[in-house]
Amino acid sequence: MLVYQVTVYTGDRVGAATLNNVHIKLVGTDDESERKWLKSLVIFRGSISTYTVSCPNSLGKLVLIELDKRHNHLTPDDAWFPEKVEIKSPEGNIYTFPIHCWISDRETHRFREGKALRIFDESHSLGQYARKQELSHRKVCYGWDCFDAGMPNSIEADGPCSLPSEIQFSFTKTAEFGYTALTALTELHLKGLDDNHRNWENLDHIKEVFCNKHTPISDYVHEHWMADWLFAYQFLNGVHPTLIRRCKTLPENFPVTDDMVFIPNGSNLSKELTLGNIYLCDYKNLDGFPANTVEGIQQYLTAPLVLFHKRDNDKLMPIAIQLKQTPAEDNPIFLPTDSTYDWLIAKIFVRSADFTEHQLNAHFLRTHLMAEVFAVSLLRKLPMVHPLYKLLIPHTRYTLHINELARSQLIGPTGVFTKYAASGGEVLNRIVARSLSSMTYRSLCIPDDIADRDMQDLPNFYYRDDGLQLWDIVYKFVQGVIQYYYKSDDEVQRDSELQTWIGNIFQHGFLSQQQTGIPQRFNTVPELIKFATMVIFTCSCQHAAVNNGQYDYSFWMPNTPITLQRPPPTKKGTTSEATMLQTLPPISVTVHGIAVVWLLSRQSSDFVPLEHYPEDHFTEETPRQLQKDFKAELDTLSIAISNRNKGLDIPYTYLDPKNIENSVAI
Ligand code: FE2
Repeated sequence: MLVYQVTVYTGDRVGAATLNNVHIKLVGTDDESERKWLKSLVIFRGSISTYTVSCPNSLGKLVLIELDKRHNHLTPDDAWFPEKVEIKSPEGNIYTFPIHCWISDRETHRFREGKALRIFDESHSLGQYARKQELSHRKVCYGWDCFDAGMPNSIEADGPCSLPSEIQFSFTKTAEFGYTALTALTELHLKGLDDNHRNWENLDHIKEVFCNKHTPISDYVHEHWMADWLFAYQFLNGVHPTLIRRCKTLPENFPVTDDMVFIPNGSNLSKELTLGNIYLCDYKNLDGFPANTVEGIQQYLTAPLVLFHKRDNDKLMPIAIQLKQTPAEDNPIFLPTDSTYDWLIAKIFVRSADFTEHQLNAHFLRTHLMAEVFAVSLLRKLPMVHPLYKLLIPHTRYTLHINELARSQLIGPTGVFTKYAASGGEVLNRIVARSLSSMTYRSLCIPDDIADRDMQDLPNFYYRDDGLQLWDIVYKFVQGVIQYYYKSDDEVQRDSELQTWIGNIFQHGFLSQQQTGIPQRFNTVPELIKFATMVIFTCSCQHAAVNNGQYDYSFWMPNTPITLQRPPPTKKGTTSEATMLQTLPPISVTVHGIAVVWLLSRQSSDFVPLEHYPEDHFTEETPRQLQKDFKAELDTLSIAISNRNKGLDIPYTYLDPKNIENSVAI
């Protein structure tokens, strides 16, 4: 008899152990073993158990294993989480079978050997069958749903608990998430703030909402929030660095003139436009949407235009604000030379509009919903043995769960955003739909985006500096992996699974809108490399850039009000501290907004940083070495960013690789 030595690795996570009987069958190119009961196996959490399978003849090259699990008369059905199975053949070859999923039913589950295979590499009929069977099963588990017209499709589910176990939060993450939410809400309730509908009478009281939950940056923002330079700084290195662009010609609906604005050193607006020193933020995406009603009171949402000038000392300063898109007598252009409260309230309206544009477009649509589309398409269209599955699956961790939570707890009928944000209620989904219709592939690729916004040379733009370096590092890694598996454009074109995957993304993510520029198929290796780079960058780096600083810049509510309850001033000279306090959201709305941002800014203890791969999907030497090189390059970048930050008043840490999570998980 020939002896195969089988080693089973069970995951080190809560509930991974099983008391049930596990069976295995080995399938090779020449023969298959009998179904063998692993009766000597004691399967504890984190255990490594070895036993043997004997066969009369050699099985040839191993293609797959079959695993199944049955309860016995002593134990009911339970779930088991195997990480991998390693098999040493009688010929001395080692085969590794990555698994990384829960087995909770009594079905037979097939797992492929770790070497990545494209569909046309499959030479064994059982390999072809297993591939098809895996995808038909996944098609049932991961269906598409339409949350609302014009929005990207999402996972079909009845809340996070109905999702397949593999993609749910871990026990640790669930417990921490619940605890953070509960403690924050309890603190607010005990202080009597969550049900206090009065307006703030003294802004300094806001700091007492969460006495022990300040960050160095939230304190800094509290101190300097009225400063024009901090207002401008946030468009570069705050949580929404993707809207500002260089302006060479003023939009027709923003009639700022040379004599309106003050430019130092005898220059004027026209000259500075020509010199390339003028920048613009235009919130036209928000134009025409009616604002929410919060606690029975009509709210206000504007679609401002903001002009900035780059001073000789390289600092950006705001020089004009128009709060509505259509120029009119009752839509004045506010200037830094106006009264303190005219100018301050104009900036507050911009910051409130920025909250909506950032949260719904830059954060929710462009990272959370896109990551969900990439994840569902991947799970439906690529089998585990496909190289792109192995490359991208680490970047989908927890995304479907967090998005299901967002749909139920944030933007559902009773969600916090729905109830309290100016852009909540019915208008929310319409804003997301409009944002999608104007989203482009180029804007998801940071080198193209920076070029299109003409932001290549503005000093002190750390999001750009760090983001471009990250893009290059991710690109190099992805290029190495893809070029290892695809030697020619022809191989890319012939990979029908790959073509179906991108077709699915185009159809369900971008609703087949050709103007987005999203590829509908891949014709060349470079096209595939760029797209996979964009997927990894979006799910990790871009999400970190727009997610990690939320609490830093939102805790001090006047800097980022989630809604405003008075209309924007229609003429100058009508504002005061009292009108500002009446305009800002009341206490209850403020504290609910801060509590959510606190929850969504917490890093969980099972956070997996970019370049960490706790699950070994790749077993071949080349991609594993590329992963190590990738990590080394990110470590070097992390050191450079830390050194740069030592000289900054406000360190820009959101794109430091050690703070970037591998996936959209919060
Ligand atoms: Fe997020």
